[in-house]
Amino acid sequence: MICDNITVKDGVLYFAGQNTLELAKQYGTPLYLMDEDKVREKCRAYKKAFETHFGPGAQPLFASKANCFKRLYEIMTEEEMGIDVVSSGEIYVAKKAGFDLSHAYFHSNNKTDEDIAYAMDHGIGYFVADNVEEVKAVEAEAAKRGIKQKLLLRLTPGIDPHTYEAIATGKVDSKFGSAIETGQAEEIVVYTLAQPHVELMGYHCHVGSQVFGEDIFERAAVVMLEFLADMRDKHGFTAPVLDLGGGYGVRYTEDDPYLDIETKVSEVAKACKDACERLGLELPEIHMEPGRSIVADAGMTLYTVGTVKKIPGYKNYVSVDGSMADHIRFALYKSKYTCLLANKMDEACDFEASVVGRACESGDIIQEHVMLPSSVGRYDTLAVCTTGAYHYSMASNYNRLPKPPIVMLRGGENYVAVRRETFEDLCKNDV
Ligand code: LLP
Repeated sequence: MICDNITVKDGVLYFAGQNTLELAKQYGTPLYLMDEDKVREKCRAYKKAFETHFGPGAQPLFASKANCFKRLYEIMTEEEMGIDVVSSGEIYVAKKAGFDLSHAYFHSNNKTDEDIAYAMDHGIGYFVADNVEEVKAVEAEAAKRGIKQKLLLRLTPGIDPHTYEAIATGKVDSKFGSAIETGQAEEIVVYTLAQPHVELMGYHCHVGSQVFGEDIFERAAVVMLEFLADMRDKHGFTAPVLDLGGGYGVRYTEDDPYLDIETKVSEVAKACKDACERLGLELPEIHMEPGRSIVADAGMTLYTVGTVKKIPGYKNYVSVDGSMADHIRFALYKSKYTCLLANKMDEACDFEASVVGRACESGDIIQEHVMLPSSVGRYDTLAVCTTGAYHYSMASNYNRLPKPPIVMLRGGENYVAVRRETFEDLCKNDV
């Protein structure tokens, strides 16, 4: 199986040791499941690897955009994780969950004045300024409050991560960050250092997401450390923090490689240490911002099969009771997934079909070319694996479909963390 929390017993699919058919029956479908123990295991793996390989001060920050709801922030607090946030909305949810925002880093390429004030009101630890306008805006708000605001600068190291175009962000022409290659990164450093109400703590980069490329993070780290040394030499400023962003890929199918967190972190640490030695630098405090690799395989979506349509000589469709509203990644990226017929796990998969949703749009596809048992039919339970990242957080109400609930699985027990939206929720803002 693609992840060790997926098992089969008597022809039935189990997730985190729990019977998916019973879960579907108890909570209804579509249903997001989250394996809490897996989330915690990943947080601990990152924390331990950082401690071992980067030493004191280094920290992994959970990238909230991958999945964001109150219970998850409580878990992040308990696991002593930092977080990154990208909007006032994420700040609000984190705060509601009691997360101490002094351990939060505020990203985004276009923070409004209201966002900046809101983040300061809630005691945000760090801003990550994308461009010089943002530095100006943060400086102005900090001056108004008579505070000195800690800040990192998002830079683009000019590395192509070889992932989907839509989620590659570290290239020079990116919407995000200031480019080292064009000299804009240096300009923004000089500008920021001259601001009285902003304390420049370091640099940040994020090369892309779902990255498997062998030495992508190592190369980014080297470019960033060379820049750090260059700024020391030219402007006498040695940044104490270097944040290398998120991006490690996860296994959506058996064809995807398995990345071991410890090994990957140790490889980056080695590249950082080697570069520091060559450049005569002390190792800065290294941060990374894993999102997907913490929550993706802790997630599974359960659907109930409805119509099975066979178009002789063309293709077959298996429709489920969810849609692109709760599973947008295929429509956006043609992202691959593993689909399993949870109640017929011991039957041969000899029937090829497109698994589709019930939204009014031809592109509403969960997955194409799925092999399922030929007996697939109404009331079967279909599971889509590895849906813990960028599913709930990207879900919409297209076609006025209520969002599924999130049920947490922990130590053989389960509980609702996010309740199912009701029809009333769908018009609660209508006046
Ligand atoms: N840090 C920054 C600044 C980021 O922009 C991102 C992702 C992360 C961390 C976390 O990256 P991760 O470890 O999750 O790969 N919606 C897309 C992914 C967009 C990612 C954007 N930034 C998807 O569903 O694949």
